[in-house]
Amino acid sequence: MYTQALDTHGKEPLPAATGESPAQAQRFQARVDAEDKIEPKDWMPDAYRQTLIRQISQHAHSEIVGMLPEGNWITRAPSLRRKAVLIAKVQDEGGHGMYLYSAAETLGISRAQMFEQLLSGTAKYSSIFNYPTLTWADIGAIGWLVDGAAIMNQIPICRCSYGPYARAMVRICKEESFHQRQGFEIMLTLAQGSGAQRAMAQDALNRWWWPSIMMFGPSDADSRHTAQSMRWKIKRFSNDELRQKFVDITVPQAQFLGLRDPRPGAALGSWHAALSDRPDRLGASFMRCSRATDPATANALEARRAADEAGHWVREAAAAHARKQRTRAPQAA
Ligand code: 3HC
Repeated sequence: MYTQALDTHGKEPLPAATGESPAQAQRFQARVDAEDKIEPKDWMPDAYRQTLIRQISQHAHSEIVGMLPEGNWITRAPSLRRKAVLIAKVQDEGGHGMYLYSAAETLGISRAQMFEQLLSGTAKYSSIFNYPTLTWADIGAIGWLVDGAAIMNQIPICRCSYGPYARAMVRICKEESFHQRQGFEIMLTLAQGSGAQRAMAQDALNRWWWPSIMMFGPSDADSRHTAQSMRWKIKRFSNDELRQKFVDITVPQAQFLGLRDPRPGAALGSWHAALSDRPDRLGASFMRCSRATDPATANALEARRAADEAGHWVREAAAAHARKQRTRAPQAA
């Protein structure tokens, strides 16, 4: 699906980054402006390739690091039904990571290189997954808010200029929308439950609201890549535009649940002013959280490294099995 235009991938050298003429760049931009999809074997500016590798691999890393906090709750989910749903969701996130790594590979980087960048802390992933999940309501809040924010950000990527990324996003967005609904359903059940359950739902909203808002990245004024990414139609909207859309859609949902504005002492109905009143504090905590030196990031990376090591024998066994199949096939023929 992702590599249809790249039948010799892995066997040919990467296109040289040198010798980009203004005329080539202009023709490329004209294709983008005409809503043509750029495919792996097409000429592209090196900066476009590098921007895509950074964004798609960061996205893939976010999907697989995002499996960790939810995976922790599988054994503690309150019923068999909740366990089955959570297992399916965590499995979906692993699948999203795989589609995205495949899409990034079409740009000439290998999966092993991307893993190395993640595990060594040189690549980023969404800082949201560094926050602790303290109660079952957090699993509801993650589905409702984190997956909700992810969809808001990712639906426009289905129309991005790079074909393999755009196509991968179609299925991912469909699955994310189920994830958002299962999270909202957990929150609805808690909101209609006992006083203690309602308090748990409110506490989860209070802790997850601001990190979810920061999933859209820094403010437009501080964003390093948005202007160029929008020219190349990798991004269709700016970080702040998407953030505002998310707030506009999510606030009525919180009100439907009977939950309060997460800011201490804030009046009901004042949510819409919420974006402008703490950007510096939020920006600082967000940036700290996205660095590999932050203790929460270090913990998540350690868990990922352990998972990588624990899976080593499975990968080896699968490769040995594939080798055996290959040698047996000609004999059988
Ligand atoms: N966490 C950590 N770092 C972040 C970040 C976040 N939420 N948002 C932005 N950053 C980093 C950027 O990578 C960039 O770092 P760099 O310049 O050192 O490489 C820096 O902050 C400045 O940000 P920009 O706005 O200039 O960066 P982008 O143009 O890349 O925009 C983005 C950021 C909007 C997140 C964009 O990369 C994007 O749309 N990515 C695709 C979607 C994605 O990755 N989502 C992650 C969540 S996936 C998920 O949640 C799984 C689901 O199952 C819940």
